Amino acid sequence: MMIEKKLFGRTRRGEEVTCYQLSSQSLKVCLLDYGATVQAVHVKDRHGRWRDVVLGYDTIEEYEDWDGYFGACVGRVANRIANGEFWLNGHRYPLAKNDQQNHLHGGLRGFDKYVWSAAEENDGIRFYRVSPDGEEGYPGNLSVSVTYRVVDGTLEMIYDGLSDQDTLCNLTNHSYWNLNGAGTVADHSLQVNAANFLENSTACLPTGRILSVEGTALDLRRPKKIGEGLAADDVHLKNCGGYDHNFCLEGASPAAVLHSDDSGITMTLETSMPGVQIYSGNFITPRSGKGGCAYHARDAVCLETQYYPNAMECEDFEKPVLQAGKPYHHVTKYSFSTQ
Ligand code: GAL
Repeated sequence: MMIEKKLFGRTRRGEEVTCYQLSSQSLKVCLLDYGATVQAVHVKDRHGRWRDVVLGYDTIEEYEDWDGYFGACVGRVANRIANGEFWLNGHRYPLAKNDQQNHLHGGLRGFDKYVWSAAEENDGIRFYRVSPDGEEGYPGNLSVSVTYRVVDGTLEMIYDGLSDQDTLCNLTNHSYWNLNGAGTVADHSLQVNAANFLENSTACLPTGRILSVEGTALDLRRPKKIGEGLAADDVHLKNCGGYDHNFCLEGASPAAVLHSDDSGITMTLETSMPGVQIYSGNFITPRSGKGGCAYHARDAVCLETQYYPNAMECEDFEKPVLQAGKPYHHVTKYSFSTQ
């Protein structure tokens, strides 16, 4: 494993942004300290050509300007919190509202919009930051880190946290995967090893009901073309404009498998988290990304591992509560192979 480092740019606030490249024989991963962002993941296709399998940008301005969370570490709490507030230990905590009346992906300035500190380690790089008490409305000074490691064909993400007050913590990575590098992901096949998913309202907020995937377009227990699912006459997908649902993993390993026949690349997901949000890039507005490549809605799919969204409101969901002084720790791995 090799680490190379170069200047990526400077934020409007004047902070330097560094790009770290971690490489093995079969994987080259570019990481930014801005948002602890996965900027590029190069994998060899069936012809031995490198393909960059995540969406992203070439400049820091574009990361600052757009709220798509391309490749970023999202926090304190991934996904939506209804009405931008939660109750903990008898206190009501109002949060920043950045998705109509709801709170999304950490608020107006989430973890994706900060330059993190960085430490090179033997086989990876650790990004860390302290989110101060009251940031975006959350209680407690929360120290978090995400360590990225490249081990052969696997990109590992190791999340740690510690707070001085009881708070919420639910970190994820928001990479947009496209195993061809560009174009639609309708032709990718996706398998998610989940028998149940969370019902969403039309605002993509879990209602609290856990439903069986049986007979729905969310039955991905056998690999299914994403385009086939999207074309189905399915009320759940219609409610959210495509896949934008959390699947209940119940310890499944692997959690999910994404494959493209075109490139021959397969990505396998493993996680210690109880859920994975499958999001088919429905809200990507047309834009140009790395190397001038045109991106459109449905040109990528996100596999965001996390506690179930909106859990504080939903009785049966495991709570993303991090107690003062208790460690937060979870691991997610994306492994690549080529047939
Ligand atoms: C996803 C979320 C979508 C959308 C997207 C960002 O994680 O499920 O509903 O908010 O992030 O555009």
